[in-house]
Amino acid sequence: MLITPDISALSYKRQLAKRFDRASLSYDSYADFQKIVLDRLFAILPLSQADVVVDLGTGTGQALGILSEKLTPKCNIALDLSPQMLAVASEHFSALQNTHYVCADAERLPLQDKSCDLVFSSLAIQWCLSPLDLFKELCRVTKPGGYVVFSTLSQGSMPEISKAWRGLDNKEHVHQYMTLDALVDCVEASELNLLSSELSDISMWFDSPESAIYSLKKVGASLIASDGDKPISPSKWKAFLLEYEKQRNEFGIPLSYQVSFVVAQRPISI
Ligand SMILES: C[S@@+](CC[C@H](N)C(=O)[O-])C[C@H]1O[C@@H](n2cnc3c(N)ncnc32)[C@H](O)[C@@H]1O
Repeated sequence: MLITPDISALSYKRQLAKRFDRASLSYDSYADFQKIVLDRLFAILPLSQADVVVDLGTGTGQALGILSEKLTPKCNIALDLSPQMLAVASEHFSALQNTHYVCADAERLPLQDKSCDLVFSSLAIQWCLSPLDLFKELCRVTKPGGYVVFSTLSQGSMPEISKAWRGLDNKEHVHQYMTLDALVDCVEASELNLLSSELSDISMWFDSPESAIYSLKKVGASLIASDGDKPISPSKWKAFLLEYEKQRNEFGIPLSYQVSFVVAQRPISI
């Protein structure tokens, strides 16, 4: 989850949706890291059949085909804040039966209580404003005995970018994500039962600092390009790229992520 600047929730969500709208056409070509995370999340799915499945923050629908194949749901709900992401997903999966595309906020789900067997979400919930309220909402829509399975970015992601900026100024240009421990506390406070949680360090390698930054921008994760309230000047940006270049090693330019993988269950009794 993101520790956000002090802007109203509504305007923050609008900005977020616009940013992902803009990335919708380039997303699939740049989503190598996201595909690695999805594969790992599929590997820990705790069920082999589910009637109602929600892919929360579905993006271009990278998970939809596999969820359908693995779980043979009667109803697949592809939900996202970004209408353009949903448009790409529905175009890709027009042949997929029983799939409904819903433009909505994960923190205010237009779904009935106890209606889903599985809430699945990969690399989306880090953009939410209130983790505790989010997990209460996910618990509300999950059937007793149903599952919430997600991946999210955690504290310590993209240290290479922080380090490059530290070489230039003392400002924090990278978002501070929650620790896994804080995330787990919120899951447990929401009344979901935690079944497993794991933190994984995933490193990606690029041929230049520019392509590392592109891998963020082209998937909509580009909130790094600010200098307080001002846009970053071309000369400062150039200096940043030179600092980042200093981190090159034999594999290329690194960009690493701390990813939390969590499986939780709504107790049968509530
Ligand atoms: C990095 S993409 C991940 C997409 C997909 N899950 C995947 O693994 O490829 C994050 C997606 O989450 C969506 N998202 C972010 N915040 C959201 C929210 N509060 N409610 C619904 N969707 C949200 C974005 O619009 C974007 O499409």
